[in-house]
Amino acid sequence: EKDGYDWFMRKEIFEQPRAIADSLLGRHDDSGKLQLDEIRMSEDELRDVDKIIITACGTAFYAGLVAKYAIEHWTRIPCEVELAHEFRYRDPILTRDTLVVAISQSGETADTLMAIRHAREQRAKVLAICNTNGSTIPRESDAVIYTHAGPEIGVASTKGFMTQLIACYLLGLYLAQVRGTRFGDEIASVVDELAGLPAKVEQVLGQADQIYALAQDLQDARSVLFLGRHAGFPVALEGALKLKELAYIHAEGFAAGELKHGPIALIEEGLPVFCVVPPPGRDLLHDKMISGMQEVRARGARMIVLAEEGDDAVDDYADVIFRLPKASTLLQPVAAVVPLQLFACELATLMGHDVDQPRNLAKSVTVE
Ligand code: F6R
Repeated sequence: EKDGYDWFMRKEIFEQPRAIADSLLGRHDDSGKLQLDEIRMSEDELRDVDKIIITACGTAFYAGLVAKYAIEHWTRIPCEVELAHEFRYRDPILTRDTLVVAISQSGETADTLMAIRHAREQRAKVLAICNTNGSTIPRESDAVIYTHAGPEIGVASTKGFMTQLIACYLLGLYLAQVRGTRFGDEIASVVDELAGLPAKVEQVLGQADQIYALAQDLQDARSVLFLGRHAGFPVALEGALKLKELAYIHAEGFAAGELKHGPIALIEEGLPVFCVVPPPGRDLLHDKMISGMQEVRARGARMIVLAEEGDDAVDDYADVIFRLPKASTLLQPVAAVVPLQLFACELATLMGHDVDQPRNLAKSVTVE
């Protein structure tokens, strides 16, 4: 049932183009209009939403961090993202017009479940984004957007994360459509970009052998850092989590802009640093990222750079470059996370670890 792959995780990474396509299926028409009837909230209710709180744990939380950038930009509704176990115990401000979005692959994560129970007691509306039909979190929510990743067996979430991103994008665009924001004219072009993502992920998967070669080179690493900015920051966090979980080595993700406020002290000769470079564009993000990379490189780090094809501004600061297909800044995480998943899977394999069942971890965490 692993279809010739050594691990479920590797199989699931390669299933991502299909998982994205399935998660988009039937949710938009050819003109770019979104159909998300499953939200089961009236357009009036959706227009009344004055705050969104996304709550989740682990990898699902990182999907929520990406979602915040997209949802706020597209809808102008204030959006917070909070770890479910923190949210539940801090007396958050919730009203009838708060939309709480709970993201969970398994639908059984106890921390997330307690968070939504608390939210509903306070009369907030709860929308679940979930991959498991009929599981507890969607059953206890007001509505659900199912991701169609198919069963995820590897303990480390890959296609689950990917389809959570897709569901979050759909939700953000749908809210923008219903509320008729300034951004309205651009919805169709983002939908079009979403539809092109499976092919882009396929393109990144085509570089697997180079990523595996890198893992071979970095087998002795004791610590690995990941840097990103904007929507690339959660990608950095996710890359680090995957390494901790699977390779049991120290790994940390940072917002690149935060480096000079402390973490740059960690940089030493030969330290592997992955950099998720935002697409070059009108804003200053890309250039700021490059100047951060310059600082890190100058201190002798080994620079592994994920940058858009044609972005030659990175060439001078990279030891290894993986090329990402062209994408908007908000959608870049979809392609950018793939090399990091492949890298963690391969490094753990080379180290002789059980990739599908890492030590001390369970697929669904049903205790708080
Ligand atoms: C990471 C991982 C965990 C889960 C987290 C939430 O690879 O699998 O961090 O993402 O435990 O699980 P769900 O999404 O099932 O609520």
